[in-house]
Amino acid sequence: MTVHFIGAGPGAPDLITVRGRALIERCPVCLYAGSIVPSDILAWCPPGARRIDTAPLDLDAIVAEFVRAHEAGEDVARLHSGDLSVWSAMGEQLRRLDALGIPYTITPGVPSFAAAAAALGRELTVPEVAQSVVLTRTTGRASAMPETETLTAFAATRATLAIHLSIHVVERVAEELIPAYGADCPAAVVWRASWPDERVIRGTLGTLAGLVRAEGLERTALILVGRALDAGSFRDSALYSTDYDRRFRPRAGGPSDG
Ligand SMILES: C[S@@+](CC[C@H](N)C(=O)[O-])C[C@H]1O[C@@H](n2cnc3c(N)ncnc32)[C@H](O)[C@@H]1O
Repeated sequence: MTVHFIGAGPGAPDLITVRGRALIERCPVCLYAGSIVPSDILAWCPPGARRIDTAPLDLDAIVAEFVRAHEAGEDVARLHSGDLSVWSAMGEQLRRLDALGIPYTITPGVPSFAAAAAALGRELTVPEVAQSVVLTRTTGRASAMPETETLTAFAATRATLAIHLSIHVVERVAEELIPAYGADCPAAVVWRASWPDERVIRGTLGTLAGLVRAEGLERTALILVGRALDAGSFRDSALYSTDYDRRFRPRAGGPSDG
């Protein structure tokens, strides 16, 4: 018996991995975060599978389901939204499974920041403008931020920011970022990226909060900020430049750089 943690992707059912879907199809038990995992994905559970929405459960109750499946010798598909490596609460479940000696696997998923970038039609790292993406959030009810991880500290890098779980404080986010990025810096909100009702709002740090409030958007949205969002702001990468010599496309007669 094994618990299979599966990143269910950002919303569109066909953005789950082939491996994730195959695991769901063969597990007689499926635990899923019903508040955010799309119900279409549950249709892949085998007939008669036990489907448990973990939204109303606490950690002890979730672990009790793992133990029950373990005693019955039944594999479990454990679904979380997006990818499992960020804000999935997988870590605390793994710790309990380790203590109980219950085996598990981890299958990654498409994270919401990647789906949001796709919805915007943008690459988040572009030459000389931004070569780093900061995945962050602001303090919420469930968890406070470590004191060094402030928006102001990240803003000092002027990297591209993908700010999760913060649409309700979009005004404060903009206020804290404007001193470093400027009020004219491109900023966007992608609400429910990849879902059928996805919405994209493009603006600047100076205009974004007003646009978001006018649309009345809440929850399940990402705020993206940075000069990389301006498609015209950067030069072509060296990777595909005619003059750039590299292993798979050596310059005629020239040495390869390996
Ligand atoms: C608990 S976190 C889960 C993050 C997830 N593990 C991931 O890989 O993206 C939930 C937050 O992720 C963001 N999020 C998740 N799915 C999203 C989507 N489809 N569109 C926009 N933002 C999304 C929102 O900021 C939401 O508040």
